[in-house]
Amino acid sequence: MEDKPAPFKGDKVINGFRWPPMVCDDMPEELRKFKVRDDDVFIVTYPKSGTNWTTEILKNIVCGGDLEKVKEYGDHGPPLEYFNFFKKCDSFPTDKPRVMMTHVPVDILPKEVFEGKGKVVYVGRNPKDTAVSFWHFIKERRFLEEYEKWENFLAAYLKPDMMCGSWFDINLKYYEHRDAKNFLFLTYEGMKLDHKGCVIQLCDFVSRHLTNEQVDLIVNNTTFSNMKSKFTGKLPDMKQLGNLPKLTAMGDPNQKFSIMRKGVVGDWKTQFTVAQNELFDEIYNEKMKGSSLRRRVLFEIDA
Ligand code: A3P
Repeated sequence: MEDKPAPFKGDKVINGFRWPPMVCDDMPEELRKFKVRDDDVFIVTYPKSGTNWTTEILKNIVCGGDLEKVKEYGDHGPPLEYFNFFKKCDSFPTDKPRVMMTHVPVDILPKEVFEGKGKVVYVGRNPKDTAVSFWHFIKERRFLEEYEKWENFLAAYLKPDMMCGSWFDINLKYYEHRDAKNFLFLTYEGMKLDHKGCVIQLCDFVSRHLTNEQVDLIVNNTTFSNMKSKFTGKLPDMKQLGNLPKLTAMGDPNQKFSIMRKGVVGDWKTQFTVAQNELFDEIYNEKMKGSSLRRRVLFEIDA
């Protein structure tokens, strides 16, 4: 009988921070030293905030909306921090910009970014929809049993030692960098409200001057329904990782998988009980006190 790799389970604590099990012990230290190229684009998010959507838009932008060229980029791959994927990125071709995704806290992002090298697109999403999306993802991938019940997940999500960090810590700290020249702070809800406007903003940010037709093409290529067909039924391509440590499956490889679940704003209303929502609001109000990030967070939109 063929041996199947064991699925990842559990979490991993490094320097007091809880990571998913796909993180190697030396990642935090090594990722800081990652050599950044001038044309690098980092898509940075708290998990489930539109990372893949924004990455797909950026890849489309640098390819002028030409899907054949976008295909040459291959799968998005895992975030930089999983399986030390960033080491693999060192050998990526230099003839096109690297578009890389990550969820690491700001103090683990490559140091050179803070010296102005490369560009960072940070995408925030309201914490209630993020929680629901994250919970569905964890349930589907089954790598952390203690988070499989919604009430357990939500309780953990509101604590500072949540796996991948607390939504509050990650978002508030990145928000402090919003005015840096090589940072752009967007929101998932803003992208839902004005998809085309955000594509134009991203084109300006990465200095790509595209025609109106190309912009329309990119908007069409990156709608939820068009992305859904491309992103359903695939686990990340682990072959891309070469011989990096811990090469194994991330969940059951036979399981149908989609990061494209609902793609809406306000889905939290179908999940939170009244009591959970009240508790959440109390904690939210306390944590967000004094931050203008509050003005950017939209829990619902008229779209
Ligand atoms: P839901 O689970 O709420 O549907 P990430 O890429 O960071 O893992 O984020 C996944 C979330 O982004 C999922 O949210 C997914 O549906 C949503 N998403 C992905 N592509 C999208 C698109 N083109 N338009 C709107 N939402 C999208």
